Amino acid sequence: MSDNVAKRIAELRREIERHNSLYYAEAAPEISDAQYDRLYRELQDLEEAHPELADPASPTQRVGAGPLKGFALAPHDVPMLSIDNTYSPEEVREFDARVRRLLETDEPVEYVVEPKIDGVAISLRYERGRLTRGLTRGDGRVGDDVTANVRTVHDVPLQLRSDQPPAAVLVRGEAYLSRSQFDRINVQREAEGLPVFANPRNATAGSLKLLDSRETARRRLRFFAYSVAAVEDAAPPASHSNSLALLRQWGLPVNPDITVCRGIEAVIAEFDRRLAARHDLDYDIDGLVIKVNSLDQQDRLGRTTKSPRWCIAYKFAAEQAETVVAGIEVQVGKTGILTPVANLEPVQLAGTTVSRASLHNFDELRRKDIREGDVVVVEKAGEIIPQVVEVRTDRRTAARAEFAIPEQCPVCGGPAVRDPEGVYVRCVNPVCPAQLKERIQYFAARDQMDIKGLGAALVDQLVDKHLVSSPADLYRLTAAQVAELDRMGDTSAENLMKQIEASKQRSLDRVIAALNIRHVGRHVAAVLADEFRSMDALVAAAADPERLEGVQEIGPVVARSIHDFFAGEAGRALVKALRAAGVRMEAEARADPGPQPLSGKTLVVTGTLTRFSRSQIESLIKSLGGRAGSSVSKNTDFLVAGDNAGSKLDKARALGVRVLSEQEFLEMTGHNP
Ligand code: IVH
Repeated sequence: MSDNVAKRIAELRREIERHNSLYYAEAAPEISDAQYDRLYRELQDLEEAHPELADPASPTQRVGAGPLKGFALAPHDVPMLSIDNTYSPEEVREFDARVRRLLETDEPVEYVVEPKIDGVAISLRYERGRLTRGLTRGDGRVGDDVTANVRTVHDVPLQLRSDQPPAAVLVRGEAYLSRSQFDRINVQREAEGLPVFANPRNATAGSLKLLDSRETARRRLRFFAYSVAAVEDAAPPASHSNSLALLRQWGLPVNPDITVCRGIEAVIAEFDRRLAARHDLDYDIDGLVIKVNSLDQQDRLGRTTKSPRWCIAYKFAAEQAETVVAGIEVQVGKTGILTPVANLEPVQLAGTTVSRASLHNFDELRRKDIREGDVVVVEKAGEIIPQVVEVRTDRRTAARAEFAIPEQCPVCGGPAVRDPEGVYVRCVNPVCPAQLKERIQYFAARDQMDIKGLGAALVDQLVDKHLVSSPADLYRLTAAQVAELDRMGDTSAENLMKQIEASKQRSLDRVIAALNIRHVGRHVAAVLADEFRSMDALVAAAADPERLEGVQEIGPVVARSIHDFFAGEAGRALVKALRAAGVRMEAEARADPGPQPLSGKTLVVTGTLTRFSRSQIESLIKSLGGRAGSSVSKNTDFLVAGDNAGSKLDKARALGVRVLSEQEFLEMTGHNP
């Protein structure tokens, strides 16, 4: 019986994956959605009844799984290179001339022209046809292991379609978000009071780095495969177009708009066609990638340290349009920074209507000399947020006044002063309602205390009605007070109260981030939580900035800012009020990860490594249970020495500390690629 079940499960998994790939990769479904749902439900039911047959590569697992603590770093089996950019037909002709010169014969050169997808590069590893790993590019040598998130991308087959898949294969491609899905995500974020993403690329990068893959699954990422970086145990294809055909055969999605061109003039003609049609696509492309088709020629051309000589990007220039500055308005941020924003007469640019543009700061505004009524050139360079790049001063007809730098906050009327350190003008009124609103929203946002339902409209009311004048006041709200607010009924008030209550149990790193200490974002907050384990210990350490600087990744500016925050009255009062409200101020006890390769060991790193940056190897050491020290002493267990190691190496030798090369370190920790 159970044999039959196992067989049926295997069959369903194969069938569902095949239909997935017909639907996503080939846009040629063979069955209706309802038929697909039936197969899917049958598989779900069988798996539920037979948990012993569970498999992370089952299509039912694409919905994602519980949160990870962090991403492990993993070395790339084949480095992920970058490509050189060109912007004009002349540069493209130079590339072609160089290719033909280096090949040293008159043989014809064929080029493959592909859209350059504006997403995030991903490397996939398949072993015997099964997806085993997905890595981000990282620094090209070591990337983040985002396998759990990559599994949620429906375009990516969990199993290659092949009876005899190669022992191992590395597939490279681009994860991206469709424009329509990107818009949906932003509409939703806006409704939840979360900051919107600037462009689909940032949203893709953010979605791949979510610790909870269930959340990534909801983002509905897409994928295009564009190369086979290595195959084991099988002959490599003879040309790039053959590898693309092979990828398609395996069920991987390959962009439909790829052409093979004979000669560089055909490539240039192709560019003009694609440029005109780019806005018809539902995803962003920022140019074309031009690749020499023959793998033999590719091999002969080779690579520089940075990029292959057989490939270049031919990028679209940023699009520009002219419009008129209808007015300049000043916005107040959560730290009181005043930002000038231009209201523009609506203009079509790169497929959307543009009616506002940030002018960044007053120095920038003065430098460009932007005045109300001016004709300006706006540009979008891969960003959804347009920039004002220049003023057409030749078209300034009337005498227009320079925009006056405000001396008062436009919201509270309090004094606005220039930051001693630089370019910003700030409202220094600590109770300015505009700042307060931004701070409350930040406190409640998803990356901090994650109080769902507390969006901008609600925060405005809470502050305007004087119900809240500090984030800690949220914990004093009553359901009756909340139910009185516009568009809130008893049920939504109850729900919000539950959310506020639940936020008291957030992890220490979130609470630290929510304090809104300058220079302390989510990452630094996590470092501090990990090091100090409680708010009390952090406050005690903050008395001494040098103690803070002893923590990996905390530099003098950040240390000073943390010190100032906890030394100041406002910072202390906030911590005290949050504690009184019952917000948890301790880190959770660490789960025992069992014996790890570097448990209890202290390692110091010196010199230049080939596979890791300093911070990457230090986080790898920590993730393997070790401590990364900064100076060699008799308590040091190992010194990992790269090229040009200096005094630390001498000292280690003098003290008899064991010295490891980078390779030995990788072997010892089982990270050998
Ligand atoms: S080929 C060694 N093809 O553009 C050459 N890259 O630096 C490997 N990209 O982030 C790249 N579309 O992920 C190639 N059709 C395409 C591409 C593409 C987008 C990205 C790539 C990388 C950047 C190039």
